[in-house]
Amino acid sequence: MSAVQSPSVSAAAQSTAALSIENLQAWYGESHILHNVNLSVNKGEVVTLLGRNGAGRTTTMRAIMGLTGARKGSIKIGGVETIALPTYKIAHHGVGYCPEERGIFSSLSTEENLLLPPSLSITEKGMSVDEIYDMFPNLKERRNSQGTRLSGGEQQMLAVARILRTGARLLLLDEISEGLAPVIVQTLARMITTLKAKGYTIVMVEQNFRFAAPLADRFYVMEHGQIVESFASSQLEQKMPVLNALLGV
Ligand SMILES: Nc1ncnc2c1ncn2[C@@H]1O[C@H](COP(=O)(O)OP(=O)(O)OP(=O)(O)O)[C@@H](O)[C@H]1O
Ligand SMILES: [Mg+2]
Repeated sequence: MSAVQSPSVSAAAQSTAALSIENLQAWYGESHILHNVNLSVNKGEVVTLLGRNGAGRTTTMRAIMGLTGARKGSIKIGGVETIALPTYKIAHHGVGYCPEERGIFSSLSTEENLLLPPSLSITEKGMSVDEIYDMFPNLKERRNSQGTRLSGGEQQMLAVARILRTGARLLLLDEISEGLAPVIVQTLARMITTLKAKGYTIVMVEQNFRFAAPLADRFYVMEHGQIVESFASSQLEQKMPVLNALLGV
């Protein structure tokens, strides 16, 4: 058999990608931040984007959602090219973004926050509020509590839960473990494992390497707006010296 993939094989491989980014460039105003980012995530995979402060990880997530300035290159979500689409249309292709600042409504109760998100995906129905409560019993207990009264961990779960309500199957999670106590971080790790088991595709930006390492199937490392390393979890041990040098982990 030839080592060169036939076009039909590579087309089939592409069609299984939940997210496929090629030569992505992105700007904030005049500032050119992303320089030819290439990254792909298969359906059902958990992928972690590592990097130092300012490497461009949040910008990559924002660029996927159409939330930066100009973008160039290709971003396919479930095989559909989205580079020219506005944010609301991108969301319809089943991608949900949980920003660092969480984006829940602090003046509303937990349940009101869960009832607010519209079903966005054109292919998938979002989780029902009951399904959310099954998955996050804490949120059920706190259903009538105002957003401001929730703990950091509960707010983070609510932020993810709101995205699950929209029907998104590709989740972009930006530093969800940041600033949370170890016991809460463990709860979030269980949440990621559960979502993976339910078939969600997850891209996580993480500073907390200990949290990310056991969860991820594959890793990408960014530096100065580019991907400088990518490897599978099976290669993690041999990559530790490189990661040490790049990230100081
Ligand atoms: N709104 C903005 N306008 C102009 N430049 C920005 C803006 N947001 C980020 N940048 C710049 O883009 C670069 C990448 O930032 P980004 O937020 O993507 O980094 P990051 O990898 O998420 O790191 P961290 O979250 O630790 O800051 C940085 O140099 C940052 O200063
Ligand atoms: Mg960031």
